[in-house]
Amino acid sequence: MYYMLGPVLCFVLLVNVAKVASFKRVSVDIGKNVTIKCPLNYTRDVMWEREGKKQGTNMNMHVLQSGSLFLMEADRSDSGIYSCSRENDVKDLKGKVNVTVRTPPPPLIVSIKPSTILVLVCWEVNGTGGYPIIYFTAQYRLAFTNDSWIPISPNHIMPNSRQLEVYSLRPNTTYEFRMWATNQLGKSSISNVLATTRGQYPEIELARHLLKGADKFDTRWWAAAVGVVMGTLILLGIGTCVLLYQECRKPYFDEDEPEIIELVPNIILNPGFEGPSHRNDISPDENSNNETPIRLNNNTVVQPQNL
Ligand SMILES: *[C@@H]1O[C@H](CO)[C@@H](O)[C@H](O)[C@H]1NC(C)=O
Ligand SMILES: *[C@@H]1O[C@H](CO)[C@@H](O)[C@H](O)[C@H]1NC(C)=O
Ligand SMILES: *[C@@H]1O[C@H](CO)[C@@H](O)[C@H](O)[C@H]1NC(C)=O
Ligand SMILES: *[C@@H]1O[C@H](CO)[C@@H](O)[C@H](O)[C@H]1NC(C)=O
Ligand SMILES: *[C@@H]1O[C@H](CO)[C@@H](O)[C@H](O)[C@H]1NC(C)=O
Ligand SMILES: *[C@@H]1O[C@H](CO)[C@@H](O)[C@H](O)[C@H]1NC(C)=O
Repeated sequence: MYYMLGPVLCFVLLVNVAKVASFKRVSVDIGKNVTIKCPLNYTRDVMWEREGKKQGTNMNMHVLQSGSLFLMEADRSDSGIYSCSRENDVKDLKGKVNVTVRTPPPPLIVSIKPSTILVLVCWEVNGTGGYPIIYFTAQYRLAFTNDSWIPISPNHIMPNSRQLEVYSLRPNTTYEFRMWATNQLGKSSISNVLATTRGQYPEIELARHLLKGADKFDTRWWAAAVGVVMGTLILLGIGTCVLLYQECRKPYFDEDEPEIIELVPNIILNPGFEGPSHRNDISPDENSNNETPIRLNNNTVVQPQNL
C-alpha cells in the first residue's frame, strides 16, 4: 500500500502550490486609476498593506468606504503584492492581490559586433512591460555629429528578431546606434551604443575575421573542406603538368610514328607471328613456368607471366 503514498503526496503538494500561486491578479496600465476589491469580500474596517513596504508610504493609495483599495494614476513602482485584512482580526486572515502595472517595454540591451564595412546589431529584451512587443526600431548615424538618423531597414522590425546587419559602412569609423521597442502603451526609452568599424584588412585577415564570428562553426569541417579542395587542386595541377610534359615531348616521338603505323602490316606479314618456329629454348623455371616469350614481330615480344 505504500506505493500509493507517492502520488497522494504529489497531489497534496500540487494543491498547496496551486493555493499559494492563486493570488488574485490585477493588471493596470501605467497612469490609470484602479480600484481593487478585497478578495475576502470584507467591506468594513478593512486594512490594506503593501508587502515589503510600510503602510502609508504610498501617497496614491487610498482605502475606499467600500473597503476596496484605490490606486491613483498607477506608476511602475506600484507593481507588487497587496493584502487586505480586517482590523483587529484575531484570525489574521489576509487576502492577497498581485498588482501588475503595465508599461511600455523596458529599454533594450543592445550590443554591436563590428566588422570593416558591416556591423551586426544584437539586442535582448528585459521584459515586455505587460503587453507583447509589436515591433523594434533601429537607427544609426556617424558618431559625434548632429546628422539626421538613418533608419535601419525594415522600419518595423519583427518582434521575434534579435539581430540584424547594417551594410555599406566605412571602415575605421565610429557610428552611433539607437534602438527601442514598442508595445501598445508606447515606446521604451532609447538605448544608444557607439561602435567603431574595423580598419581595412588584407583579404585573408578579413576572411578570418568574418569566420571568427561563426562560433558554432566546427573548424575541423572547414579544415577538411579546405583539404579536399586543396587535394583536388594539387591533383589537377599534377594532371595538367603531366599533360603539358607529354605535349612538349610529342615532337621527339614524331619520327617513330611511321613505325607504329607499319606495325599492323608487320603482324600480318611477319611469318614469325606464328611463333613456335622462332621459340627460344628455355627450360621450365622453379615455378614450372615453361612458357617462352612469344615474338610477335621484330619489335614486340610477349613475355610469359611468371608466378
Ligand atoms: C484618477 O482619479 C483622480 C482622482 O479621483 C482623478 O482626478 C483623475 O482624473 C483620474 N485619472 C484618470 C486617468 O481617470
Ligand atoms: C467573494 O465574492 C465572490 C462573488 O461576489 C465569490 O465568487 C467569492 O468566492 C467570494 N470570496 C470569498 C472569500 O468569500
Ligand atoms: C505577480 O504577477 C506577475 C505577472 O503578472 C508574476 O511575474 C509575478 O511572479 C507574480 N508575483 C507573485 C508573488 O506571484
Ligand atoms: C532588467 O530590468 C530590471 C528592472 O525591471 C533591472 O533591475 C535590470 O537591471 C535590467 N537588466 C538589465 C540587464 O538591464
Ligand atoms: C548639435 O546640436 C546641438 C544643439 O542642437 C549643439 O549644442 C551641439 O553642439 C551640436 N553638436 C555638434 C557635434 O555639432
Ligand atoms: C583608423 O583611423 C585613425 C584615425 O582616425 C588612424 O590613426 C588609424 O591609423 C586608422 N587605422 C587603420 C587600421 O586604418
